[in-house]
Amino acid sequence: MRLSALLALAAIALPYSAAEAAQDPYSYAEPDKVRVRHAELDLALDFPARTIAGTVTLDLDWRDARASTLNLDTRDLAIERVEALDAAGHAQALRYTLAVPDAELGSRLGIAAPGQPARVRIAYRTAPTASGLQWLDKQQTADKQAPFLFSQSQSIHARSWIPLQDTPAVRFSYAARVRAAQGIKVLMSALRQPAQDGVQVFRQPHPIPSYLMAIAAGALAEQATSPRTAVWAEPSQVAVAAREFSDIEAMMRTTEQLYGPYRWGRYDMLVLPPSFPFGGMENPEMTFLTPTVIAGDKSLVSVVAHELAHSWSGNLVTSATWRDIWLNEGFTTYVENRIVEAVYGKTQADEEFVVAAGELKHKMQSLSENQQRLAPAPREVGADDALTDVAYVKGAWFLRFLEARFGRVVFDAYLRDYFDHFAFQSITTEQMLDYLRANLVDRHPGKVDWDQVEQWVYAPGLPDSARLPAVPAFTAIDATRAGFLDGSLSAAALPGGDWNTHEWLYFLDHLPEAPTLAQVQALDAAWRLARSSNAEIGMRWLPRAIRAGDSAAWPAARAYMLRIGRMKLTLPVYRAFASTPAGLAYAETAYGAHQAEYHPLTRQAIEKVLRKAHAQPEATP
Ligand code: BES
Ligand code: ZN
Repeated sequence: MRLSALLALAAIALPYSAAEAAQDPYSYAEPDKVRVRHAELDLALDFPARTIAGTVTLDLDWRDARASTLNLDTRDLAIERVEALDAAGHAQALRYTLAVPDAELGSRLGIAAPGQPARVRIAYRTAPTASGLQWLDKQQTADKQAPFLFSQSQSIHARSWIPLQDTPAVRFSYAARVRAAQGIKVLMSALRQPAQDGVQVFRQPHPIPSYLMAIAAGALAEQATSPRTAVWAEPSQVAVAAREFSDIEAMMRTTEQLYGPYRWGRYDMLVLPPSFPFGGMENPEMTFLTPTVIAGDKSLVSVVAHELAHSWSGNLVTSATWRDIWLNEGFTTYVENRIVEAVYGKTQADEEFVVAAGELKHKMQSLSENQQRLAPAPREVGADDALTDVAYVKGAWFLRFLEARFGRVVFDAYLRDYFDHFAFQSITTEQMLDYLRANLVDRHPGKVDWDQVEQWVYAPGLPDSARLPAVPAFTAIDATRAGFLDGSLSAAALPGGDWNTHEWLYFLDHLPEAPTLAQVQALDAAWRLARSSNAEIGMRWLPRAIRAGDSAAWPAARAYMLRIGRMKLTLPVYRAFASTPAGLAYAETAYGAHQAEYHPLTRQAIEKVLRKAHAQPEATP
């Protein structure tokens, strides 16, 4: 056995128990004692004050006869009143304490609940700085007609706008009544019901985890893309968005054929303002999307395939703790690629996966051993740390490995049964593995050794069994790139006019991090990369131009990072600027003038980059 394989296997002896892994360290909830089963929200949106105020009524399932406290998660919430409701709806005040806030978890709301009431109502108000909400003035929207509000609850920010058991281990259905000013359309992660006396009404009949609680409000228009799908956006954006996402019904049919019926009723998509901090968020029945995926040529719609795929992997079968997030993101990245293959062809699917695999290998180098594990040791991960390529791409790669070993027919049927078996449940990595062993590995002996499975899941790095599909176009690009870098091929002689977006991404990803100034200038003169309207190209090009010392690229980079709030795209530009004192000063000035326009999460992330650069000015990027 090779030494690397030996070392990898040695790392598999787990220093923690399955019970410890099943604990969610990012919530004060005690699901073994009591669980929220249903929530009724009655809320009013106050745009001038930037607050949501109202009540949430929680239906409780008491599971431990000795329990007498209901512990909820909150962050920066003002609690106005807590009461127990009896069957007739009579209210009785309950005593409660709001603990001193923990920087990461927020404040535990401990409610004294002797007698284990079946329903508890909390009257509360959010802070204008709520970490899970962004309030935009109308000047910050595309149409400048009305202010805008949106939530981003994953991972642990639902607690900043609703007091609840904010752990993915607990699932509940919900209903909501929301009051907003005339002309403000409200959308939630739920099915819309007819308005009642001007109050907008929603119903989520399925039990969902708290991180899927979502709300958005603004001047919004709807355009149907099929009888059960539609795009929502500001009126001036909606037609372009509906054209870009017109394959959504085909994507849904593909996924249903593979993995069983879509169980959520409608699938709508909401295009948010550019400050939305992620590419997409799989809020049930209402996926939230960054406008940066609208490239005009459908080249970035795999993000939509990804969020749709979560309707099976993630929303139906959910990771029970943040340490298990690869069950959501890895499975989803795998399904996403299957959707892309069925709708856009195998070449595009393979190209997308090979690009992602290249990014994973690159990023893996700067991750700790624990972060390189699909299922990391629970004590060493933050709730938001899981958004690395390991959960996504290594997770998907593991499923590709299983698919290759068992064959598509067997593996597709297995995955369909898995989604069915665990539907509307939250599970740990270990529960998934037990099911995998009993229903796939042991049923088809001789295909995969259990050791190999454990190596994929528990060992750092990538196993030797990781294979990539051959992509002939990429082999040709590797040769041209090499020719360009050794000077035998001029920038203008590159066959870039024939490359699709993914081929360009592959070309750019494997350029040096800091090309020479002459190389950057030549490429930009021939291909106008700094001006690309494709945000994924900008994310790869602009940092390289900055690192090469091309100050001509600075204004375009500044415009890019101020326009785009999606963290994955904007942070690499900040990091590149932060690698020299002059660049750092330039980025700080730009940020200082515009920080109020960013989402609270993006602001936090940018400030971390800038702080770090000051702490170690000589550090290489
Ligand atoms: N659920 C994630 C977004 C997320 C993960 C938010 C963890 C907060 C914490 C969503 O499904 C996602 O993965 N979005 C990706 C898109 C994708 C195609 C990789 C993104 O935002 O880049
Ligand atoms: Zn995802």
